[in-house]
Amino acid sequence: MTSVFPDRGRDPDELAGLLADWQTNDIDWKGGRAFSLVYNADDPVLEQLQHDVANRFLHENALNPFVYPSLLRMEQEVVAVAAELFGTDPQAGTMTSGGTESIFLAVYTAREEARARGVDRPRLVLAGTAHPAFTKAAHYLEVDEVRVPVGPDLRADVDAMADEVDENTALIVGSAPCYPYGVIDPIVEIAQLALAQGTMCHVDACLGGWLLPFWEEIGEPVPAWNFSVEGVTSISADIHKYGYCFKGASVIIYRDVAVKRRQHFLFDGWPGGLYGSATTAGTRPAAPIAAAWSTIQHLGRDGYLVKARLVKAATQGFLDGVNAIDELEVSGRPDMSLFEFSSRSGAEATGAIGDRMDDRGWHLDRQQGGLHLMVSPGHVHVVDAFVADLEDAVVSGGESRGVAPSYGGVVD
Ligand SMILES: Cc1ncc(COP(=O)(O)O)c(C=O)c1O
Repeated sequence: MTSVFPDRGRDPDELAGLLADWQTNDIDWKGGRAFSLVYNADDPVLEQLQHDVANRFLHENALNPFVYPSLLRMEQEVVAVAAELFGTDPQAGTMTSGGTESIFLAVYTAREEARARGVDRPRLVLAGTAHPAFTKAAHYLEVDEVRVPVGPDLRADVDAMADEVDENTALIVGSAPCYPYGVIDPIVEIAQLALAQGTMCHVDACLGGWLLPFWEEIGEPVPAWNFSVEGVTSISADIHKYGYCFKGASVIIYRDVAVKRRQHFLFDGWPGGLYGSATTAGTRPAAPIAAAWSTIQHLGRDGYLVKARLVKAATQGFLDGVNAIDELEVSGRPDMSLFEFSSRSGAEATGAIGDRMDDRGWHLDRQQGGLHLMVSPGHVHVVDAFVADLEDAVVSGGESRGVAPSYGGVVD
């Protein structure tokens, strides 16, 4: 068998050429034809800043914040900004690598809190639309997860949740908004339920955390979702989504700084000395921390407001385009900048529309009930072209290639 490990090193130019070639098969997010995975800020100055900052911090390691005071300061300031936006103590959180890790830590902290009050089999209650990261966390952490169906408005059905909440319940979850339909769960009622049971309540604002504060400021209706709601005890919010940082940046923020300390892991029985770590990773890349800080400082509130207006304009354009086509319908009443739509003629017709859009170079994600769009500032440039192609795709109809609904993926 030939070895895959190269005998001789290869020239950087050769590798750069090869990678550029390979990348031609990757999804093109810069052209505005993708609706998930990358949040295109459409901002060359910000992008250049992020490249420069990432280069500067490429080799640093946030495992030990005491030897990198610059990283410690940036992380603390990012957490303080998030805490201020959500309405709590500036020290009550940590940065993580993404939504999944923030959610993992929220579930872990709630499990530890529940164990501390004597619960043997901690339970997690959430709506079926909550992100699969909760199921993954529950699986890893041996927490019993109960998903309940959503109501007709596609929001968490709080009565159905109440039926499942018991004295073992460690955590009740609401999404602001949920990924599949872009609707915000009734956070006030969910938090009331948690208060009544004396348990924790997490708001998954991975999507909304860095957009809803500005969405509200530009005059859009935003139901209460953050620490202004009594009973909300933790919030996850991804800076690598509508915070416009590159991947690897999220925050988990607690109402109470003492609860955050449950996340901390310390071990002093090791010849290497005391091991301390606040999140799941050990070694942590510094570039996302430095880039998150730089992005927030560069954009500032006014920059985030400009982006929120672009996202709103593009979302409205897409929604108007979809709503103008009788054959199509939007699922529920999306609260923010992402939504699902489908054909009134059913799944086959919806699949065919997705395929015809693929043929025209668009990448719409397939969900169980329709096609999904997540809108970024960069999409303002493509609304008209998208709507024109969508009209064509609906008229063309044809057969569906049967692309399965999927999100993420694994390769054996
Ligand atoms: C609502 C919600 N929560 C959590 C996540 C998980 O975030 P990540 O993919 O950064 O781990 C996502 C990702 O899209 C999301 O939309």
